[in-house]
Amino acid sequence: MDQRDPQFSCKAEAFEAAEDVGRNQSQAPTFGDVVAARFGRRNFLRGSLTATAVAATFGPSLLRSMDAAAQTTSRYVFEEISHGVDETHHVAPGYNADILIRWGDPVVAGSPAFDPHAQTAAAQEMQFGYNNDFVGYVGLPFGSNNPDHGLLCVNHEYTNEEVMFPGVGVQDETGFANMTPDLIEIEMAAHGNSIIEIEKVDGTWRVVADSPYNRRISLRSTPMEISGPAAGDARMKTAYDAAGTRVIGTVNNCAGGITAYGSYLTCEENFNGYFWGELTEDHPENANYDRYGVPGGWYNWGEHFSRFNINQEPNEANRFGWIVEIDPLDPHSVPVKRTALGRFKHEGAESIVADSGQLVVYMGDDERFDYIYKFVSAGTVNTEDRAANFGLLDEGTLYVARFNEDGTLDWLPMVHGEGPLTAENGFNSQADVLIGTRLAGDALGATPMDRPEDLGVSATTKKIYAMLTNNTRRTAEQVDGANPRADNAFGHIVEITETGDDNTATTGTWEVLVQCGDPAAGDVGAVWNPATSENGWFAAPDNCVIDSQGRLWVSTDQGGGWARSGTADGIWGLETEGDLRGTGKMFFRVPVGAEMCGPCFLPDDQTFIVAVQHPATDGTAAYPGFERTSTFEDPATRWPDFQDGMPPRPSVVVITKQGGGVIGS
Ligand code: FEO
Ligand code: CA
Ligand code: CA
Ligand code: CA
Repeated sequence: MDQRDPQFSCKAEAFEAAEDVGRNQSQAPTFGDVVAARFGRRNFLRGSLTATAVAATFGPSLLRSMDAAAQTTSRYVFEEISHGVDETHHVAPGYNADILIRWGDPVVAGSPAFDPHAQTAAAQEMQFGYNNDFVGYVGLPFGSNNPDHGLLCVNHEYTNEEVMFPGVGVQDETGFANMTPDLIEIEMAAHGNSIIEIEKVDGTWRVVADSPYNRRISLRSTPMEISGPAAGDARMKTAYDAAGTRVIGTVNNCAGGITAYGSYLTCEENFNGYFWGELTEDHPENANYDRYGVPGGWYNWGEHFSRFNINQEPNEANRFGWIVEIDPLDPHSVPVKRTALGRFKHEGAESIVADSGQLVVYMGDDERFDYIYKFVSAGTVNTEDRAANFGLLDEGTLYVARFNEDGTLDWLPMVHGEGPLTAENGFNSQADVLIGTRLAGDALGATPMDRPEDLGVSATTKKIYAMLTNNTRRTAEQVDGANPRADNAFGHIVEITETGDDNTATTGTWEVLVQCGDPAAGDVGAVWNPATSENGWFAAPDNCVIDSQGRLWVSTDQGGGWARSGTADGIWGLETEGDLRGTGKMFFRVPVGAEMCGPCFLPDDQTFIVAVQHPATDGTAAYPGFERTSTFEDPATRWPDFQDGMPPRPSVVVITKQGGGVIGS
């Protein structure tokens, strides 16, 4: 039996596996439990790990800190805020956290003012989209690293009909009762990306209105090219595109990355949810679609738009699940789906230029028991001729990670004809390897992880930090070193060191940096540095960013339906070096029902840009004072406007230090 669960019944249950039930934290832990959890003793005593694996799991530096708890100076100099949940956002004292742009604000010149009671798809395509997730920055002019003026690249992941549209009614397994084709077109227009020019004037950030750089890219209408080994394959062809080389739009863009040459990589994550229908029993795509959960049926778009109905257009779902490369400096450029980087539920695409000059892109596949990947370009980054780099991501090697129990790691090449990736196993070409990347990873024996979200790579140490957000379906028998907890409701973070600190290496080592959750709750099995305060621990790491000083910042997404930690999502600094390694410190908190996304430092570390996604939705009913499911008419919060009749609005927030200076100093 497949341990995965590709089919979900409705969107509310399905997004990012949000239907899992967290642990009951009301059970009072004994003093022994507290000590055991705080110091990870339960894990040491469990007996399922070898001594080597224990050392690999917890790492020599954390073991050392458990012995002595000797303190050095925190690298995160700010006054920590408290866990909690309320209607608005909070930042550490001495900082400003100002709204930069909200859902519906004008992006493109000529955009009409936002009117949520009379919204149209045409207006939405000129306005800032919904559910801002990834945020990236390219200074202007390119190459200047200008920290005060540049382009902001923002993903719009998905839509929440219940708080976007008046009177959509109640949701059942076929969607909201009163959805119409016109509303669906607004949703399609609200998906995709925004590119906006921003500048700091007299210490205050603003969007440059009507800038020629300002651009909306949408699922509804933006033409895109398909490149790389899967382009033109028979499995990529549709009625719209007989050549299999062009497609309209991008969907469910979660995290992403900005390359060294200033291109914007945007990730197609839960693409499966947008398709519905049913393939015939003998259809050749059945194994592929089963493995990806197509059709997810989270939206009823397939009822009105044939390309989202797999009965009518059975190959359209093969044209989603890719990394899309966009040139933010050319508003007329055509975005390109780079198939060489594989097809899966792409969470992020952070990259680094290796010492060899090759570009290395680190990527997670966000599903329970799915894999971590990296792509190494064949060519090298051209620092003299920026345009020459567009195409670099079409040739190279995709690798999938195997985490060995002895603390080592192997990157397994996903190359047609090598190992099991042959015609006998259903892989007739590199296109087959890429369209069915997950199936190829299964065949290679990659390590099933606890929902790999964002991966950050440090420009200073070359180390990689993998956010494993949670996986409550992992059983005790499925526990391994890199996924050390059964029923993992709180997630963990794995640190990867490439052999020789060479990001192109095919081997490396790994350590678990922290096991998330409340260290004072005995049944949780959390492992933090004991210096972590009662507010310094977190649950469900999702995104991360490493600032120019090499400090790791983590944002969380605890998902819907329950209060896992008792606090709203937010951002925490997390020490990675020295005796404080594994110590968290809380910096920012979102309003009720939101998740924290997009953490992005500008080049001087004096501006920290974050994205507040879906305020008033996920899990609000679990919090005291908010016991209801939000609707447009009665949302749990009307953040950030707090005006009657105005719904909550996903927004990008700019954090600066009052009086100026480096964040966290
Ligand atoms: Fe859209 Fe995996 O977060
Ligand atoms: Ca995410
Ligand atoms: Ca990131
Ligand atoms: Ca998320």
